[in-house]
Amino acid sequence: MEQIKVVLNDNEIPKQWYNIQADMPTPMKPPLHPGTGKPVGPDDLSPVFPMNLIEQEVSQQRWIDIPEAVLEKYLLWRPTPLCRAFNFEKLLGAPVKIYYKNEGVSPAGSHKPNTAIPQAYYNKIFGIKRLATETGAGQWGSALAMACKLFDLECRVFMVRVSYEQKPYRRMMMNTWGAECIPSPSTMTNAGKQVLAEHPDSPGSLGIAISEAIEDAVTHKDSRYSLGSVLNHVLLHQTIIGLEAQKQIEKIGVYPDVVIGCAGGGSNFAGIALPFVRDKIHGKKIQIIAAEPTSCPTMTKGPFAYDFGDLAKMTPLLPMYTLGHDFVPAPIHAGGLRYHGMAPIVSHLVNEKLVEARAYNQMETFDAGVKWARTECFIPAPETNHAIAAVVDVAMKAKEEGKEKVILFDWSGHGLIDLAAYDAYFSGKLEPYELPDEEIRRALKAIEGLPKP
Ligand SMILES: Cc1ncc(COP(=O)(O)O)c(C=O)c1O
Repeated sequence: MEQIKVVLNDNEIPKQWYNIQADMPTPMKPPLHPGTGKPVGPDDLSPVFPMNLIEQEVSQQRWIDIPEAVLEKYLLWRPTPLCRAFNFEKLLGAPVKIYYKNEGVSPAGSHKPNTAIPQAYYNKIFGIKRLATETGAGQWGSALAMACKLFDLECRVFMVRVSYEQKPYRRMMMNTWGAECIPSPSTMTNAGKQVLAEHPDSPGSLGIAISEAIEDAVTHKDSRYSLGSVLNHVLLHQTIIGLEAQKQIEKIGVYPDVVIGCAGGGSNFAGIALPFVRDKIHGKKIQIIAAEPTSCPTMTKGPFAYDFGDLAKMTPLLPMYTLGHDFVPAPIHAGGLRYHGMAPIVSHLVNEKLVEARAYNQMETFDAGVKWARTECFIPAPETNHAIAAVVDVAMKAKEEGKEKVILFDWSGHGLIDLAAYDAYFSGKLEPYELPDEEIRRALKAIEGLPKP
């Protein structure tokens, strides 16, 4: 019998996260204070994040111990299985072996709890009582709601209004885990009120919701803000994915030629990829691909520039691939990939040519996702479908060239709460949208006066 799943015992879970900052071949550019144009210091960030997470954000230490209390919560669903996709391989008929890390088995349904749990823990031990955050389609909000409940913190989530109305089930998950979920723009913050004064029917955006959540955190006692992607400490926590995968492939004696993940803010991609980027820096021949949507082509069409993380310009200036902080992506169904920027760590690796970016349109991704669901049976999240489209792309090239390849990818989440998106695909309502170049030029006007990296 062929082995499909490679599982680790609870006691084999990695006990440290991997910090790529210790191994970067060239130093990363620092985040800048928008007022002074100088690198931001820990004190600038302290109203927004607790100091223990700020220390992780800037740490150059290669391995960082995972606290016992975090490991204990991870064990609710981790280690996640590494699976071989035999049925999908047969369908593709290419000379490839496809392995995937199933992050959809977490209680929230994606990789997001991998950082929600430690973020709640570090805030708790720092004496914080409540967290505020934003969420697009609701994956991140539900993960943080769950983590806050586990560490007895209050949680307020600003959810982009259009998703709040169209996708009620994620909001219900947040409520079930005891969090408050507010449609954004709201009248609870000045940022929200300002938007509503100009656009009473605003559908909201991730940029607006981030501004609301930061304002909420800095204006409430014992509160901090929590972000589900982009920042260094978030990517650090996600490396548990790739570190487990390395132990699993070692057990079966294989090593990937290609590692793939979808990328919105860059966290699940980094989670699977960074431990393998380390191997690549040390001489391994390996191709590492980040898959993004053609409707929000941050890495494939945007410049590497300093930009804000939010619309109200409340964050520091981050060195990253960006489409401009006031860019509002088309309402594609992969809500988690609709972000104007890309994690500075991932951006730096793309610049260093250690990581390659590719873009896929919505039709290609759903085509790949439906093929997956009809062979491997787990229904993928619309974001995850981008990674599957990249797997198909690599497999078809291998077939054409007659080359054998081992592919490893991150299956970032299930799509059971996104079935309306599949319904829209089956009823012909989706389009293969590509962001036009003139729209990119318009959006990039927002960063014209900002410092250049
Ligand atoms: C299932 C899933 N995959 C991927 C993403 C993209 O986020 P990131 O690039 O931070 O992994 C999200 C974001 O919400 C998501 O829910």
